[in-house]
Amino acid sequence: MCRPPASGIWLLTNLLLHILGLSCTTASFGPQPETTVLTPGSIPIDTDGNQVHAHGGALIEMDGIFFWYGTSQKQPPGWLSTDINLYSSEDLAEWRNEGSIFNWQSIVGMPTGPPYRIERPKIIWCEEFHYWVLWFHLDLPSFGYPAVGVAKAETLQGPFDFVQVFKPDGRSSFDMTLFQDDDDTAYLVRSVENSFLGITKLAPNYLGLEGGICAQTPFQAEAPAVFKHGPSSYWILSSHLTGWAPNPPLLWHANSSEGLCGTSWYLMPQPATGPGSETTWDSQSTAVFPYQTEDGRELLMYLGDRWNAAGPGGVAQAGYVWLPLIPTAAPSQVILADS
Ligand code: DGJ
Repeated sequence: MCRPPASGIWLLTNLLLHILGLSCTTASFGPQPETTVLTPGSIPIDTDGNQVHAHGGALIEMDGIFFWYGTSQKQPPGWLSTDINLYSSEDLAEWRNEGSIFNWQSIVGMPTGPPYRIERPKIIWCEEFHYWVLWFHLDLPSFGYPAVGVAKAETLQGPFDFVQVFKPDGRSSFDMTLFQDDDDTAYLVRSVENSFLGITKLAPNYLGLEGGICAQTPFQAEAPAVFKHGPSSYWILSSHLTGWAPNPPLLWHANSSEGLCGTSWYLMPQPATGPGSETTWDSQSTAVFPYQTEDGRELLMYLGDRWNAAGPGGVAQAGYVWLPLIPTAAPSQVILADS
């Protein structure tokens, strides 16, 4: 197994080595490869020469093309995004702007008109009904109406048509994500009243929910990113609640033959080690992307936002931190870095 030192940059480079299909032995700790997919904390420049703004989003791979989506540049006051943007790439390094796939003007059913808070969009494909669904945290700028928004589109390029806004179980819903299991069962994982992460199955058409909360974490967390590692081993990477300021990651685990439901979620030991791990290398989780190497291995990529609240330009200049997640020898542990 590759044992990288605890440097975000080195870890990112190590990620690239994996992507290039080179082994850790080949990589050594010497000169690094010229290509870097993303310098930690930076904002990539797209093929039109503009900053890539895709915050709180995720990656989708389709027919050898990577799609990166997320919220548009956040603006003061309150750091609000008007749109959800889409970018495409063949190598995770050069990004083409595919435009806005959703705009807040199409939202109906909120107590007041725009501006709104649109955060943490997540998109999955509904095979049964042949459309893409987009779910996101929809709120008033003041966080005074914490809900989820749902939209759908026939193509990933959109535009996504707004379907509904609602508060699951009638309760406040803050940070959220979607998870789609191998059998296409999909789940909403969201911060319920900022008190715990609650999990609910999506209805078969993915446009609403089926039933109430079927499992939950024992205490509060936000910024959930769900992944599977092994046939019945589920994980939620998340953060503490400190606004736009970074904090250490929280890792939850469940062993279940019934997906994310019907099981208890346990907090794992601190999953990140080394300098910078106390702030998750100045980032907050948004997704975990299962990158498939050419030789059929899976590399789990941590995708995080560096919100830059205290930096020049504030959250409008938020960057991105992508790191490999490294499974340890122990089957029930996954770590962010290794010292
Ligand atoms: C933390 C959340 O994870 C972000 O999405 C955002 O809502 C900030 N809080 C706002 O302070």
